[in-house]
Amino acid sequence: MCGIIGYVGYRDAWPIIIKGLKRLEYRGYDSAGVALVDQGMHIYKSAGKVSHLEQAAEGSDFNGHTGIGHTRWATHGVPSDRNAHPHSSGDGQLAIVHNGIIENYATLKEELVGRGHTFISETDTEVLIHLIEDIQQEERVNLAEAVRLALTQVVGAYAIAITNAAHPKQLIVARKGSPLVIGVGENEYFIGSDASPIIEYTRNVIYLKDREIAIINGNELVVKTIENEIQTPYIQQLEMRLELLEKAGYDHFMLKEIHEQPRSVKDCMRGRIYPLEGNIQLGGIKDYGDKLRQAERIIIVACGTSWHAGLVGEYLIEEFARVPVEVEYASEFRYRNPIISEKDIVIAISQSGETADTMAAIRLAKEKGATIFGICNVVGSSIPRLTHAGVYTHAGPEIGVASTKAFTGQVTVLTLMALYIAQLRGTIAQNKLVQLLTELEEIPALIEQCLTTDEATRYIANEIKDVRNCIFLGRGTGFPVALEGALKLKEISYIHAEGYPAAEMKHGPIALIDEEMPVVVIATKNASYEKVISNIQEVKARKGKVIAIVTAGDTEVRKMADFVLEIPAADDAFLPLLATIPLQLLAYHTALLRGCNVDQPRNLAKSVTVE
Ligand code: AGP
Repeated sequence: MCGIIGYVGYRDAWPIIIKGLKRLEYRGYDSAGVALVDQGMHIYKSAGKVSHLEQAAEGSDFNGHTGIGHTRWATHGVPSDRNAHPHSSGDGQLAIVHNGIIENYATLKEELVGRGHTFISETDTEVLIHLIEDIQQEERVNLAEAVRLALTQVVGAYAIAITNAAHPKQLIVARKGSPLVIGVGENEYFIGSDASPIIEYTRNVIYLKDREIAIINGNELVVKTIENEIQTPYIQQLEMRLELLEKAGYDHFMLKEIHEQPRSVKDCMRGRIYPLEGNIQLGGIKDYGDKLRQAERIIIVACGTSWHAGLVGEYLIEEFARVPVEVEYASEFRYRNPIISEKDIVIAISQSGETADTMAAIRLAKEKGATIFGICNVVGSSIPRLTHAGVYTHAGPEIGVASTKAFTGQVTVLTLMALYIAQLRGTIAQNKLVQLLTELEEIPALIEQCLTTDEATRYIANEIKDVRNCIFLGRGTGFPVALEGALKLKEISYIHAEGYPAAEMKHGPIALIDEEMPVVVIATKNASYEKVISNIQEVKARKGKVIAIVTAGDTEVRKMADFVLEIPAADDAFLPLLATIPLQLLAYHTALLRGCNVDQPRNLAKSVTVE
């Protein structure tokens, strides 16, 4: 997810764009750049934050009343000056900024290279501006028409803004799948990925719809569809406070990120699953097919929530690909002189890509000859540069310290990897793969349904907000979910919480059960359902308070639990992607009721870069 901004009007564009980019920095901060139109196109861009760009551009005279800006969350191409937006056409007359992913950029790039275009960056965005330039020249049409024709060839998501040196008062924007807002001022227009950079100048906004293009020429604004149908733009009044805008109207980044999960899981699967063909494409590791076929063991190293995702990976890889998997805390793995061979594959999981212990574990495994794959969220961070290959989660920036959408992104990648390796090793029947991929494609919609437990979790949070301890229980893939739910609760509400395999209760923890001890049980319909019911009865017999995550329509558990949270039925393999959602919400609401700082809990950091 990136932030884009634009301005055309009577004011100097530079200060408006730089200030606006700072408002959008929560959307991505790998690199930043500005294009100004003033007797030609002037582009200033650099890796790093907006403040770095400001310093780098210090002393330059920034004229121009039209401009565009971008703060990047890298998806294609590592964070660098070269890959920073804006990108320009071959003749330097056009500049573009883009938020989204163009899935067919490689094919388009190949065709353009064949027609003599040369490229500077590794980005999909640069391909788009060259395609527009190519169409403008080949079809002899104006820029707006060239943009429209180009977008009919694009597969993927975009919000774009384009400036034109030949027409300094022109600004062309378009969107499909990524947000874009137009601010309508007095003799001036603003554009932004959301309204946060616009609100201080005007509250009159137009939310461009999918497949719409807006062409601004000085004071004139025309909106049309990609199908060339003129639209009447609807101008509405912005009521929201600026501070809320950066959180897209949510009170906290964590809540926003919990609610982003239908989209982030969908983005994670985008371009990677083909259910009808029963096919999975993981471009990041496609060159390691032999290694995966011959692997005798897979070792997963990670910390915290990422380690919980690794446990889910263990269940799924062993279940589908029949390869032995060991999941290690990176901090333990690195110090215990582990036995590693060239036949081992190590998967390092890290949202930030900067966790010191995980990096040390990677270095150790690499020295001992293992093949290392990374599963990271931050493109171009340290871990992807350390590993041989990897798969990004594409969850977008996760600002809340408590990991939520990154976890479901990691679990999604591990699910894809398990099925991918199973396909390579021939351990899964094609019809089973088709069935699972067809179900997996529906998971974002099922996550949406899980989010409707928000009200119920708020109610339950009020019941448990003053407890001092809490236990989470699960079996099978429900066990890592129990661990993750306990971590969420403890790290943001400061209630002591532990996760256990449900069967472990009688080996000690049951001594803790009394009326003061809420027990959260993952009790969805699966092979161990009856056994979990016995565990619930054991808890109830000791006056424990049971909060059960159940499959929608369950009547059995409902009779014995104090509270139930319903999630839709799905294959057991996908349970972690669903059951985790109400536990994230429960932790969020409990922390809020306890007056805790949800986005920045005490003693914690978003990335633990120290050992
Ligand atoms: C999870 O909510 C925590 N913020 C923490 O456990 C985190 O998962 C852990 O520090 C690992 O971070 P990483 O994924 O960036 O490596």
